[in-house]
Amino acid sequence: MAILNILHYPDERLHNVATPVEQVDDKLRQLIDDMAETMYAAPGIGLAATQVDVHKRLVVIDVSEDKTGLTTFINPRIVEADGKTTYEEGCLSVPGIYEEVERAEHVVVEALDRDGKPFRLEADGLLAICIQHEIDHLDGKVFVEKLSKLKLNRILTRLKKNQRKTL
Ligand code: NI
Repeated sequence: MAILNILHYPDERLHNVATPVEQVDDKLRQLIDDMAETMYAAPGIGLAATQVDVHKRLVVIDVSEDKTGLTTFINPRIVEADGKTTYEEGCLSVPGIYEEVERAEHVVVEALDRDGKPFRLEADGLLAICIQHEIDHLDGKVFVEKLSKLKLNRILTRLKKNQRKTL
């Protein structure tokens, strides 16, 4: 397994729209394992392939406290969404930034698992929020772009400053 490099906003590659996975094979499972390791090491609760510069529709999520809830979503699709909730979100691609974002409270998602088997999952709470956040990544969207222009500009200034410090 390997820790992968995570792209940081405003890297333009985070705006790529990922294409569907056509074959679930050992090579893809290797990527899934590397993504899970990268997510746990960060640490984070979700990671989309887009964030490691692989533009395929693949997401790993684990919202459990003890790393026992790893779920792989290949070609995920939200087929139902209702209700409204807000949560202070963060993102491994936008380090140190946490902002309130509004999303659907409850979603039903269909995807393939790591063996290529279709499954359907009903989610609410943090899992529902995380699924929507990660699928946004696959569509080239980063959560801070849901905020007002003013807030986004402030965040960009802060990110630039932080970057300068770590050089
Ligand atoms: Ni993210």
